[in-house]
Amino acid sequence: MNAPISIARVDEIAEGRGKAFDVGEKRITVFQVDGRLHAIDDACPHAGASLAKGYLEDGNVGYPWHYAEFGLATGKHRHAPSTCGVAVYPVTVTDGPTHMEVA
Ligand code: FES
Repeated sequence: MNAPISIARVDEIAEGRGKAFDVGEKRITVFQVDGRLHAIDDACPHAGASLAKGYLEDGNVGYPWHYAEFGLATGKHRHAPSTCGVAVYPVTVTDGPTHMEVA
């Protein structure tokens, strides 16, 4: 993804929650934490769990299947069993500010 793609209204993402969106060929989850939006690949690289339903803690998202965690800002993995991170995408809020785009 290089060109920004409009994906949703900002108010579709509740504070402290994530929501997954299909964006082209990808499925991306957007989390809102302390008013900031973070977009990461939705699928955990270990066994494909959707991170949209994961728990948020100290700037990380984890998933209770096997407790791998990933940094929201960087996508880096923090805990096994995942051995790699997930992609992150810049989020831009537009239209005053009601929509978000990922690039
Ligand atoms: S599916 Fe994520 S750690 Fe297993």
